Amino acid sequence: MRLELKHIHKHFGAVHANDDISIAVESGTIHGLLGENGAGKSTLMKILSGFIHRDAGEILLDGRAVAFKNPAEAIRAGVGMLHQDPLDFPPLTVLDNFLFGREDGFMQNRAGALADLQRFSRQFGFDLDPDALVSSLTVGERQQLEIMRLLSLGAKILIFDEPTTGISLPQKIKLFETLRLLAKQGMTIIFVTHKLQDAEDLCGKVTVLRLGKMTGQVTHPFTADQLVRLMFGQSLETRARASVALGEPILELRDICVADYRLRVPEINLQVRAGQVIGLAGIEGSGQRLLLRACAGLDQPVAGDIWISGARMNRQPYRDFLERGVAYLPAGRLEEGLVPGLNLTEHFILARRSREFFIDWRAAQDAAQSRIGEYSIRGVPASRVEALSGGNQQRALLALLQPNLNLILLEHPTRGLDIESTMWVWSQLLARRQRGAAIVFASADLDEIFEYSDRILVFSGGRVARALNAQETSVQQLGELIGGKGL
Ligand SMILES: Nc1ncnc2c1ncn2[C@@H]1O[C@H](COP(=O)(O)OP(=O)(O)OP(=O)(O)O)[C@@H](O)[C@H]1O
Ligand SMILES: [Mg+2]
Repeated sequence: MRLELKHIHKHFGAVHANDDISIAVESGTIHGLLGENGAGKSTLMKILSGFIHRDAGEILLDGRAVAFKNPAEAIRAGVGMLHQDPLDFPPLTVLDNFLFGREDGFMQNRAGALADLQRFSRQFGFDLDPDALVSSLTVGERQQLEIMRLLSLGAKILIFDEPTTGISLPQKIKLFETLRLLAKQGMTIIFVTHKLQDAEDLCGKVTVLRLGKMTGQVTHPFTADQLVRLMFGQSLETRARASVALGEPILELRDICVADYRLRVPEINLQVRAGQVIGLAGIEGSGQRLLLRACAGLDQPVAGDIWISGARMNRQPYRDFLERGVAYLPAGRLEEGLVPGLNLTEHFILARRSREFFIDWRAAQDAAQSRIGEYSIRGVPASRVEALSGGNQQRALLALLQPNLNLILLEHPTRGLDIESTMWVWSQLLARRQRGAAIVFASADLDEIFEYSDRILVFSGGRVARALNAQETSVQQLGELIGGKGL
């Protein structure tokens, strides 16, 4: 089935998530859709598969215009999507999941379905027990089940939204084999990724999106170089930075390994000195947050040693990290940083180090008022934090930091902020640095990483590159590392 997307537009409020996207895909080919976080890849694919509706534009299947009201209509027309987050039902068995979405319903014709399942399994060399619970399967096996289910429903165009996240290398090899086989059988495959290597290995053509716009298309053979330029633009140059005399080592990581239930990042080594700024680059969810939380004393690293100002901090309570002047600003301002329901005055009271039993509310209001002025927060002492804009919430978080910090850890310090607030936030952070604080921040924004870091630590696919000197690193090199090349 030949697919054409023509001039697709989609807005979410002020965000133009898809801005005039046009792509054509021939049947029997694998088409890559590449782009960094927030580029608009999932949005475009959800439009194609009927999960959300476009604002404007056309979708043609074999030259015929279609408009899907919902995913069921899309799959009837032959378009199936494997989502970034699996949509299966873990408490059910493999066979019940396989039956889901069939016109003949849940209970009918199990024998026929079982035969279908076994036929597909043989064809692709999958080995799934029909009676196993989906909750007992690996992510790779759940994908296999979903592929077979969509095929049984008549899919001719299969969309894979970042299918290699969270699966092991052997599973990935198996998945790529399957994709090639599907293409050979005449399927139209769209493969969404932000990994350069995967796009190179698999795709005949690649379309690159950036901030909602199409930045270009390449046809095999293409180079990683071309992809990086399209993904990240080439507008970045190394800029001169105010130099700061570096002080004592503040943070030292020796063979740290951080992990959660789906990700494990071993062998992180880093030394950060007073006055130094370290940027953590990489696609979101590659371990940056885990490392920041470990450095803040919020999570234990799985292995390795954390030293702060000359003291080994392994298994020390969070309070000890605070006492050593460590502060952590999470990305979730309202979820983790502030307390919705409380106003600014109440926040300043909570953030005090001293804990007198009685609170002088009049004095607290006055103090809040002066802090609001000092940090240019658009609000009053009685403003509840959830009523503030993102930029003002971030200002409030900075206003809550203790005056003499040694180590400031930040996750996406300027995400969602306008240019003025962004500059303001960084002027505050750089002033802290001038006073001797070390700063470690994670950002998905390469401009921000280049502009403010002295050294850059790149996270990609469960690994971390040796810390790079920001002045000596090109966008090209950084882009390739983020895409998993040369790690
Ligand atoms: N349901 C929604 N409501 C509001 N904004 C949304 C919604 N879905 C996506 N967006 C916004 O649209 C933009 C594109 O998001 P999208 O999920 O398509 O990106 P993506 O390229 O798939 O990124 P990722 O690599 O992180 O998966 C982002 O700015 C995102 O915040
Ligand atoms: Mg996505």
